[in-house]
Amino acid sequence: MAERISLIGVGVMGEAILTSMLPTVDAGGVRVADGRPEHARTRAAALGVQAADSNTEAVTGADVVILAVKPKDIGGVATEIAPALAPGAIVVSVAAGISTAYLASRLPAGTPVVRVMPNTPATIGAGVSVLSAGEHATGDHLDQVASLLAGTGAVHRVEESYQDAVTAISGSGPAYVFYLIDALAEAGVLGGLSRELARDLAVQTVAGAGAMAQQTGEHPVVLRERVSSPAGTTVAAIRELDERGVRAAVIAAAETVRLRSIEMGRELAD
Ligand SMILES: NC(=O)c1ccc[n+]([C@@H]2O[C@H](COP(=O)([O-])OP(=O)(O)OC[C@H]3O[C@@H](n4cnc5c(N)ncnc54)[C@H](OP(=O)(O)O)[C@@H]3O)[C@@H](O)[C@H]2O)c1
Repeated sequence: MAERISLIGVGVMGEAILTSMLPTVDAGGVRVADGRPEHARTRAAALGVQAADSNTEAVTGADVVILAVKPKDIGGVATEIAPALAPGAIVVSVAAGISTAYLASRLPAGTPVVRVMPNTPATIGAGVSVLSAGEHATGDHLDQVASLLAGTGAVHRVEESYQDAVTAISGSGPAYVFYLIDALAEAGVLGGLSRELARDLAVQTVAGAGAMAQQTGEHPVVLRERVSSPAGTTVAAIRELDERGVRAAVIAAAETVRLRSIEMGRELAD
């Protein structure tokens, strides 16, 4: 029988995951709920899935329940849905900083919980999702969730203790790259290019460089050196980036995210 899937929270990430799953799941078996029921109904109608008027209605009879609400809301949602969960249902959380233990303590004993850190390029199937098993989640549960998320892009697995570091790189990472694209485009405008051309050049350069790093598998330093002729223009730019501490700033920014993710988990657990 086809899997019955429930999604709680039809926001940015919930909808990205839902859209990516739809080509491979039975849309008739998918039910969604949201903080605003009318929003759930509108999005469900647009995507060809069912809408529920409450979280408990959405999870009743579901094999897999995906929680895509904000970290501050997820504890309350877990407590709310616990009595309605079918025995053996897998609960998947995409909330940053929230441990499987935090959720398991609010769910029926023995509930398999899988923690996932996705990212927004999942919307176009070019994301990366990183899975960790909670205490009662087996390899089969992880396989089941990995196959559901295959449409979001690449899927990796890590021990849960690494999820804060994952959040800092791939979870928040698209924002750093969009920031770089914007800065690069601004430089193009400063150099006299139209905004449209500057944006296209910046976007295509980031997309092409990313694809090249992925397809060649070469170390980024090797790829960078190939663009940098001796005494040339690019090497002068790299020296400027180094002098302004851009590499250190990127590392510090990611480390701040990792620490904030740990802190958020602790704040909510208190
Ligand atoms: N966005 C990202 O890049 C990203 C990346 C990785 C992980 N995540 C994780 O994904 C989760 C969702 O983030 P998001 O960016 O998608 O946030 P979002 O756009 O605000 O979506 C959250 C959704 O949950 C709904 N909601 C709130 N309380 C609810 C409740 N009690 N019951 C049912 N639905 C409820 C909200 O409805 P209302 O609008 O009515 O409140 C909203 O539609 C977060 O835990 C975040 O850590 C996000």
